[in-house]
Amino acid sequence: LFQIDFEPLGKRGQCTSEMSLLDCARQTGIGINSVCGGIGDCQSCKIQIIDGTSSPPTESELKAFSEREIRDGWRLACQSYPTSACKLNIPPESMTTMQRMQTEGIQTKISPDPAVKLFPVNLSSPSMNDQLADADRVIHYLDTSYSIKDALVDIDVLRQLSRHLRAMDWRCKVAIRSNEIIGIIPQTSSRVGLAIDIGSTKIAGYLVNLDDGNTLCSKGIVNPQVSYGEDIISRIQLAMKSVTEAVMLRQLVLDAINGLAADLCQDINIKPWEIIDAAIVGNTVMHHLFLGLPVGQLANAPFIPAISKALDIKARHNGLNLAPGAYIHILPNIAGFIGSDHTAVLLTLTDTIARGTTLILDIGTNTEVSLINDSQISCVSCASGPAFEGGHIKHGMRAAEGAIERLKITDVSVKYQTIGSIPPIGICGSGLLDAVAQLYCGQVIDAGGKMQKNHPRVRVSNNQLEFILVTEDERDGKPAITITQKDVREVQLAKGAIRAGIQVLLENNRINEGKLDQVIIAGAFGTYLDINSAIMIGMIPSLPSGHYSQVGNAAGAGAKIALASIAKRKEAQAIASRTRYIELGSYTGFNELFINSTYLGSSPEQYKTRRL
Ligand code: FES
Repeated sequence: LFQIDFEPLGKRGQCTSEMSLLDCARQTGIGINSVCGGIGDCQSCKIQIIDGTSSPPTESELKAFSEREIRDGWRLACQSYPTSACKLNIPPESMTTMQRMQTEGIQTKISPDPAVKLFPVNLSSPSMNDQLADADRVIHYLDTSYSIKDALVDIDVLRQLSRHLRAMDWRCKVAIRSNEIIGIIPQTSSRVGLAIDIGSTKIAGYLVNLDDGNTLCSKGIVNPQVSYGEDIISRIQLAMKSVTEAVMLRQLVLDAINGLAADLCQDINIKPWEIIDAAIVGNTVMHHLFLGLPVGQLANAPFIPAISKALDIKARHNGLNLAPGAYIHILPNIAGFIGSDHTAVLLTLTDTIARGTTLILDIGTNTEVSLINDSQISCVSCASGPAFEGGHIKHGMRAAEGAIERLKITDVSVKYQTIGSIPPIGICGSGLLDAVAQLYCGQVIDAGGKMQKNHPRVRVSNNQLEFILVTEDERDGKPAITITQKDVREVQLAKGAIRAGIQVLLENNRINEGKLDQVIIAGAFGTYLDINSAIMIGMIPSLPSGHYSQVGNAAGAGAKIALASIAKRKEAQAIASRTRYIELGSYTGFNELFINSTYLGSSPEQYKTRRL
């Protein structure tokens, strides 16, 4: 066993020579990015060995680093196996825990109509002359005071009932769902529910006052599964390896949600057992992993989910620690790659959608796009990949402190803004999009994405052209931050996938982009991207800026709405059932459309709508 020190965290782990440094970090509870799941492909797990020795650099590492960087100890954690005790430096851009967490989204007013009701109960204490059993006493009170006939008691509530009634001096609130007692809480407590949006990268949690639908507090955390691969395909592959791996992935999310719920409760000074209801959304793979459903069939055509309909199950049967008899409501999925998170987005935007022909994009490693035309909803799922999360990009990183998030290139000068206004350490999705748009505008790259040699900031490194955004000098001798020819290609693939998806929806509905009344962009990346840059490279239709709105985490907002209202849960089911899913893989001419869409620039002729 070798001792491994992780700096600047000051954490220490043990590692065998059979374990990669990435495995050792995971085992020590340190989140290192691993976009490709550890196959040496993405370069997101960069670390520096500052003391100690390890296995010789692999081909992937020789590709990722210059000779000098290798000499300075730079390695890919997934490729490097220790041969002695080591001290490592984990640069911020490789850490999973520091990114900007967006939990807030559009606020919609609803009339609360929650599934769980609270009834204050003031019981007389038993005596030698009043021998009614504890549960019978509560049931009798509910009958005589509230005309609730023959209430049932959840077995776990019953197990705690006698102790709780005495501790609360026979005065409490009884939480009832349908006819079942699912919790006993103090009389001072109010109706609190938990809404969760399980994203592939982030998990957003909210405590909601079920009496008025208001958010009491919210928090975002990294989905701990991220250290096993960023995109959902690598999670599916891992889950399919063995039952142990699938159980491990599920447990990671359950522990994270329980921890998140406990943290949120601390913020408003309640205990998790006072949470009486929950609503959960997530993409279909996250949904299946959370519920312990098989995911193999999602990776292979025809990509069929185990279930699409909404589910109501006991929280404890799925490993969540809420009120002892509480249920969780899981919103319905739409298709194999359109999950309940998108249903939640549509639910949140119902009122906005009513205002004409609407395009809705939720941009992530998978981008869901819906078109609402004449109250018909159709949708597609585009494999946009991890580029906008910083994956597969040489100096890419997530939206964390030090990431270049905005950028302006004029002739030879580059002006940028970083998150937290600290010196730059990499570039995140919105900065990358700006960079490609500016390079295209300045003719440093052409419409085909080819970088031109004749710009003073363009140089050759590792056999490819790259544009220097921040020089070594500006970084006090640290390696320059650049955009490489390959990075440009990655952006072209991402934007091509999204734009081709949009075009399929337009063609299929026989409308052209000029007919769109509005475009709504949801999701964390969508909140920060510059609409002009996205239009400039042709990722989204070229419409006046007034047509666009950026609504933040609308999936989380939808989970909150469903949490607070039974009527809205029914509406979500109706939306999911009537949404028409178009599978891009079987769409005639899709490949040609995709290739056309990878070209930069916003020329609608590119998309002469072939079927109008
Ligand atoms: S290169 Fe190491 S995780 Fe992808």
